[in-house]
Amino acid sequence: MKVFITGDLPIVAEKQLKKAGFTVKINRNQKQLTKAELISGAKNADAVISLLSNKIDMEVIDCLSKCRVIANYAVGYNNIDLEYARKKNIIVTNTPDVLTDATADIAMGLILAVTRRFYESEKLVRDKKFVGWQPKLLLGSSLQNKTLGIIGAGRIGYATALRAKAFGMKIIYFSRSRNEDFDEKLNAKKVSLPKLMNAADVISLHLPLNERTKNIVNSKMLDLMKSSSGLINTARGEVLNEIHLIKLLKKKKIFGAGFDVYQNEPEINHELLKLENVYLLPHIGSATIEARNQMAEIAAQNVINVLNGKKPITPV
Ligand code: GLV
Ligand code: GLV
Repeated sequence: MKVFITGDLPIVAEKQLKKAGFTVKINRNQKQLTKAELISGAKNADAVISLLSNKIDMEVIDCLSKCRVIANYAVGYNNIDLEYARKKNIIVTNTPDVLTDATADIAMGLILAVTRRFYESEKLVRDKKFVGWQPKLLLGSSLQNKTLGIIGAGRIGYATALRAKAFGMKIIYFSRSRNEDFDEKLNAKKVSLPKLMNAADVISLHLPLNERTKNIVNSKMLDLMKSSSGLINTARGEVLNEIHLIKLLKKKKIFGAGFDVYQNEPEINHELLKLENVYLLPHIGSATIEARNQMAEIAAQNVINVLNGKKPITPV
């Protein structure tokens, strides 16, 4: 049986699949596959391991005549038309848990960068403008006793809140359902979205992207933010009205922002490049050697299980 891997994953995936007796074809090109290339690589495969940058829509799924499983190499799976895959009896899997800490670390890093103005500080030194310690040089704001608003109280949201709690922050959260870990272990309060937008000193987004969450942080919600507050997005660009957020940043209606994801990824709105207290990362939430290796193992194991007639370990 044949497995098509759409990107250059850690070697462990290929090894596991070959050991299990499958033929493996890998796209080792660093460039993102076009739709035609994706279809041509995947059409005769019994399983596909996909990247979050591969849009697997109806047209692609209709070409997958033999495919039994699409193992997405990500926790998010908004790139796949899940309903249509189900209709075609294709199982979809993701890679949860193993990237939770890595992603929460990046969120926490962005929180620190925004509140303590890493970029402006670093730039001052590189521009050779550091002339000595000064009482009022690049003052940021402390995290102790400030409020972190977590939007999307899943695993990554919780792991981020846990870190922030250790920095002395109070936690509030917004999600569809109550999360007992937030309530009991973090002494966090569940609030409405407008309340959170208005009360938080830092807001961090941890929602999966779907029809319900698309543009949930819209212009009206963003307008509720305090002028001293910052916003961090390590989830998906489309849960947020990026254009409106840029407007607020330009007018200094909020303090700063940190992005690991973008509305039109990989394109970056050029206005963002000009803003001072804004951090722009290239979607590296899960980019640790450890997380990426474990993601590869999980994706491969999902494929092996399904092709051997067993249950996948992490179906979505
Ligand atoms: C990364 O964004 C992921 O969904 O794993
Ligand atoms: C989903 O992204 C999660 O919180 O794990």
